[in-house]
Parts: sequence; C-alpha cells; structure tokens
Amino acid sequence: MRLNKYIANSGFCSRRKADEYIANGNVKINGAVVHEMGIQVEDGDKVTINGTLIESTEKKVYVALNKPLGFITTMEDDKGRATVAELVDDIPERLFPVGRLDYNTSGLLIMTNDGQLTYTLTHPKHEVWKTYVATVAGVLSDTRLAKLRRGVDIGGFITSPARVKVLKQAPRHAVVEIQIHEGKNRQVRKMFAAVGNRVQSLERTAIGDIRLGRLMEGHYRKLTKEEIEYLKSL
Ligand code: URA
Repeated sequence: MRLNKYIANSGFCSRRKADEYIANGNVKINGAVVHEMGIQVEDGDKVTINGTLIESTEKKVYVALNKPLGFITTMEDDKGRATVAELVDDIPERLFPVGRLDYNTSGLLIMTNDGQLTYTLTHPKHEVWKTYVATVAGVLSDTRLAKLRRGVDIGGFITSPARVKVLKQAPRHAVVEIQIHEGKNRQVRKMFAAVGNRVQSLERTAIGDIRLGRLMEGHYRKLTKEEIEYLKSL
C-alpha cells in the first residue's frame, strides 16, 4: 500500500497531512527516512512518524476464487490478457493470488492481502497438499500409476510421491485425481507427460482442506473464520 494511504488508514492523520510529514522528513520506514509519498509499504514494514509507530488497520481479506480457463494469475498483464484481478474487482482491498495456476488450468485459487500468509503458504518448506482433477489422453496403466506414486523426472527434478486415484477410465481418456505438495511450474502436466499421458484439462479442486466445492467458475467466496485459522496453522 502507498505510504500516505497507509498512514491515513491508520487514523493517525489525513492523507494530506501524511504527505506533509513525508515531505518534511518526519517519516521513517524500517528506520530510514523516506521522502516519497507513494512508496509502497510492504507487510512487516515498520513505519514511524517522529518516532511514533504507525500501525495499519487495513482489513485482511481472504477469498477462494474459481478461476476459469483463460485468465492469468497476476494482477496486471502487459499483453492485455484477462487477469484474476478482474474477478475480484468489487473488493476494495488489493488482493494478490497465493501461488499460481496456469492460464489453461481452472479451479481453486486463494487470494488475500495478507502477505505473511501468502509467504508461508508458497514457501517451498511449507508446501501444502494440493488436489487436482486431470483429464488425460490414453490409458493410465498400473505401471504409469505406480511411477507417478513413486516420483517421476520432470526435466531434472524428481517429484515427491504423489497420491493418485483413477476416477474413470474410458477407452481413450482417463479422469484422475492427483495430489501433490510441490509447486513446480506446470508440474501436473509435466508429471503426466513423463509417463506418457497428455493432460487435456486440469482443475484444482482443493488446497489442503480448503475445497472448491460448488463455487461457480469466475465466482469467489470469502473464506470462513475456520478456514482462515486452518491456513494460518499450516
Ligand atoms: N500443475 C500444472 O501443470 N498446472 C497448474 O496450473 C498447476 C499445477
């Protein structure tokens, strides 16, 4: 959030007054004087005015979005593609996606302005189990299933054992539920490709215990208090 807005939001003074404090060199971020009204304050930054700690009162917002295909998981796109920001633009707080989903993957995306939670959930050390339903071309034989469950080479990286369940095997395609707790780029697609089954469609249905459920594509819902506490406990 911009520094002058951050100060005004805290209730310390108006935004105009905040600009004056900044211009006069009375404001410090993490101990260093700043003169730029619009500099961004990040989560965890310590802002003081003449030594008084200014605490943000910005409400933390947590939503579960059902991302449709054809949206990118960033807040802006220089190529003019649709972004997930458009799907939550009626929420006044500026939300950020927790991790990524490919342009051509649909399903559950958590979005929040809680930078601490985003950091924790996306840090490789804390990767949570994520559940996907993939439709893949061909037959997913027992040998291929066993490979996915053991771990496969996706171009110099051996994946950790995945939990895999075939939901349906049709003559020419299979519908498979797969759970992984790593977040390599296009990991699920690469894992199936590594065993010889091309992914035709991919949807994320859960992140840990947070489930997509019946949320319609392009819609979001606020997470419940229990869900937020659960995510923070991970
Ligand atoms: N794995 C993929 O291949 N794509 C995603 O979007 C997420 C996981």
